[in-house]
Amino acid sequence: MTIKGRAFPEGFLWGGAVAAHQLEGGYKEGGKGLSTADIMTLGTNERPREITDGVVAGKYYPNHQAIDFYHRYPEDIELFAEMGFKCFRTSIAWTRIFPNGDESEPNEAGLQFYDDLFDECLKNGIQPVVTLAHFEMPYHLVKQYGGWRNRKLIQFYLNFAKVCFERYRDKVTYWMTFNEINNQTNFESDGAMLTDSGIIHQPGENRERWMYQAAHYELVASAAAVQLGHQINPDFQIGCMIAMCPIYPLTAAPADVLFAQRAMQTRFYFADVHCNGTYPQWLRNRFESEHFNLDITAEDLKILQAGTVDYIGFSYYMSFTVKDTGKLAYNEEHDLVKNPYVKASDWGWQVDPVGLRYAMNWFTDRYHLPLFIVENGLGAIDKKTADNQIHDDYRIDYLTDHLRQIKLAVLEDGVDLIGYTPWGCIDLVAASTGQMSKRYGFIYVDENDDGSGSLKRYKKDSFTWFQHVIATNGAEIE
Ligand code: BG6
Repeated sequence: MTIKGRAFPEGFLWGGAVAAHQLEGGYKEGGKGLSTADIMTLGTNERPREITDGVVAGKYYPNHQAIDFYHRYPEDIELFAEMGFKCFRTSIAWTRIFPNGDESEPNEAGLQFYDDLFDECLKNGIQPVVTLAHFEMPYHLVKQYGGWRNRKLIQFYLNFAKVCFERYRDKVTYWMTFNEINNQTNFESDGAMLTDSGIIHQPGENRERWMYQAAHYELVASAAAVQLGHQINPDFQIGCMIAMCPIYPLTAAPADVLFAQRAMQTRFYFADVHCNGTYPQWLRNRFESEHFNLDITAEDLKILQAGTVDYIGFSYYMSFTVKDTGKLAYNEEHDLVKNPYVKASDWGWQVDPVGLRYAMNWFTDRYHLPLFIVENGLGAIDKKTADNQIHDDYRIDYLTDHLRQIKLAVLEDGVDLIGYTPWGCIDLVAASTGQMSKRYGFIYVDENDDGSGSLKRYKKDSFTWFQHVIATNGAEIE
């Protein structure tokens, strides 16, 4: 079988993906509250973003302005429509709807903003695909309740989800509950724990235990939201969102293979719970042997079972590699090694298109659910020429290589794929570093790391390339 000349299935959802805090800006407008994304300063690949206690005068917080999508979205949506987008993945900033997170009534101005944004998309033939919690939450919930350490967060999250599901029931079909919920496997990184769970570590505490506890409350909240959403609109498709980095053994030594398997089990147990509705036995055993004493009730387990997801949304940027460490417990901060068979991006992310086909087959074999690739892309430094051109052939190559593997997975292997939304379809603030210079977009935004620049938008070469891919429904990818 050949993929040459063959198109993607009819109705395939081509589009692009972003997250509220990384592009909206307007961090205090329309009654918005302070979010965890608003207290993270600018970092670099070498220097982590600082997490401050509230907004500190004199420090620079890139998400406050981001790319000012809050005011400029009609122009940006028009460009997405010109590219031929069928869908646009964004998130709803929790703090626009519930500024503190524990109010009983939502903030009408915030709800109206997303009504207007989604209407603008629909007017342009683009369906919104929405993540409820994408790496941010009201900072008040962190200060007052300790973030997702606290069971009360489940109810606050469900209040937020209910308001969104009811308000946008006729505008949104595809939802995701938590962005990259499994990135907190990296529980030693302060940034990951703040963005995923609103956890600020306390000295001496067992970080791994708190990761499992917070993730449990999130998984229960997600499963309850799936049930709630289906009651509000039975046509809703509600998915999880998993950061997929397949983990390979460095060699064929059985100990390396076994360790890589445990690493995969650890990184993807979140998907087991989302899709199968239960915790895997190896992890229950670990909870016991480590004496984690987690707060997991019988009622929670019923909710998990009843709220399995409709599809698996996932991001794919890179693969990981490990070698046996002599102990069968995976620690992502320490256990990754370099794979000699793949290249890496300027930010050290292993570039591995074949790993995407592998991952799609892995998900399909394990869960038998439709997949949706809701992030993929290359963060790179782009240069704008004197005549305002951006020749990003490296991005076109990266995306073409990945699309080839996606096509093989769909057309040869029979993977059921809903759509493909490359990350940061318009340049935005990087989540890990807060930089603008780590660019993913088809659209260049004239803005520097320190926020200076005209904010004007320019089409890159990849804009025209992706427009053609969509117009031909991927038929020329080979
Ligand atoms: C994913 C996140 O981790 O990767 C996005 O869902 C993020 O929010 C993207 O922006 C790319 O990472 P970064 O750090 O390059 O922005």
